[in-house]
Amino acid sequence: MGDILLKTLVPGPKSQALMKRRAQAVARGPFHATPVFIEQAQGALIQDVDGNTFVDLAAGLGVVNVGHCPPSVVSAIQLQVARFLHAGFNVTPYEGYVELSERLNRIVPGAWEKKTLLVNSGAEAVENAIKIARAYTKRSSVVCFDHAYHGRTYMAMSLTAKAKPYKSGFAPFNSDVYRAPYPYAYRWPTTNEPEQVSRECFAKFCELIQTQVGAENVAAVIIEPVLGEGGFVPAPPSFLQALRSYCSEHGMVLIFDEVQTGFGRTGAFFASQRLGVTPDLMTLAKGLGDGLPIAAVTGRADMMDAPGEGGIGGTFGGNPLACAGALAVADLFEHGSVASHSQVIETVLEGRLAEWFKRYPVIGDVRGLGPMRGVEFVKDRFTREPSKEAVQKILKHSYENGVICLGAGTFGNVLRFLVPLVISESQLNEALDVVERGIQIL
Ligand SMILES: Cc1ncc(COP(=O)(O)O)c(C=O)c1O
Repeated sequence: MGDILLKTLVPGPKSQALMKRRAQAVARGPFHATPVFIEQAQGALIQDVDGNTFVDLAAGLGVVNVGHCPPSVVSAIQLQVARFLHAGFNVTPYEGYVELSERLNRIVPGAWEKKTLLVNSGAEAVENAIKIARAYTKRSSVVCFDHAYHGRTYMAMSLTAKAKPYKSGFAPFNSDVYRAPYPYAYRWPTTNEPEQVSRECFAKFCELIQTQVGAENVAAVIIEPVLGEGGFVPAPPSFLQALRSYCSEHGMVLIFDEVQTGFGRTGAFFASQRLGVTPDLMTLAKGLGDGLPIAAVTGRADMMDAPGEGGIGGTFGGNPLACAGALAVADLFEHGSVASHSQVIETVLEGRLAEWFKRYPVIGDVRGLGPMRGVEFVKDRFTREPSKEAVQKILKHSYENGVICLGAGTFGNVLRFLVPLVISESQLNEALDVVERGIQIL
């Protein structure tokens, strides 16, 4: 017998009642991928308020990478709760903030001295990385990429590509932001061969800087090494390497936004390790706290020290509970079996998705890095016209049958798997069987 256990139709009566209250009380802006209200969760399983048990392939949007409520993380938080909830790092500093910074300085790649700033969300990490780069370079322009997602605050939103729903109605955006193409091989207009795409895309990046920005004005280049919301597209290592060399040559700060790709998501601590390219600054969030609101900018110490005292920081940044939890999460990554198990997940996902690609013509592309895997749906393999409808139907079928998963992509036509990296092989296969059935009955 599997782990999925449905006692009611989904959504059940209690979830439906809560959904009505939600509609009355909560602004409609924050979207919900499912109409299922959670009661409790453990590992890769979620129980809803109606007593139904789901397999979680979304990990709370790529956050609970070491699973829901790992006991060591829970007890680290409980110990901290009993000591103090808040002090304000800029009022009475505490060791947890320093210790987590030391830990990140050690695990983030780069053979140079590093420093860390702790904040509350991925968007805030992005904001601060740009502030740090501008303060360091004394330049203002920022180059970002097509299909990028960096968050919902003003600079993060200005760097984000997709208009609807992220930017519509919120103009004007921050100035001095330029957008270059991302090496999205499946949708590249002249070729789909990754190395050729990489070369052509880098040529376009250089052209943009030469013709519109001026290299001497660029403070930072910010990129997701694997597109997250943009559709789970890994950048070819050769492209990232070319950016690396260009930024070094022209005194620009290279920022990797690893908010979604960090903390084991791609089968290494960070995607940059798998792709073999080291940025100057890295933004981190999501998996860092396994659900606690914490994010970080970690990178070259001289850059991190560019803003003056009081120039960056905030009331809640690196709050004590989140630091205690994040340190326990880091222990699980460094000393637990997450890394080896994520290889099992990668193998299962890669194998099953390759089979799906062979079987179902509605699938145009399967791709990813490590356990971060996506499936792009099309109306026709020849025209590659995106099929958002397919993804929406599969997602609905999935939650109605006990599996929580998510869509992604500029065209909304990518099914993405952000599984808790502690999911068992049988839970994963059981959930993928449900999703596959959703493809079969499209
Ligand atoms: C790559 C990337 N950057 C930044 C963000 C924004 O993070 P947050 O939602 O914590 O502000 C996200 C969130 O999905 C993300 O995927």
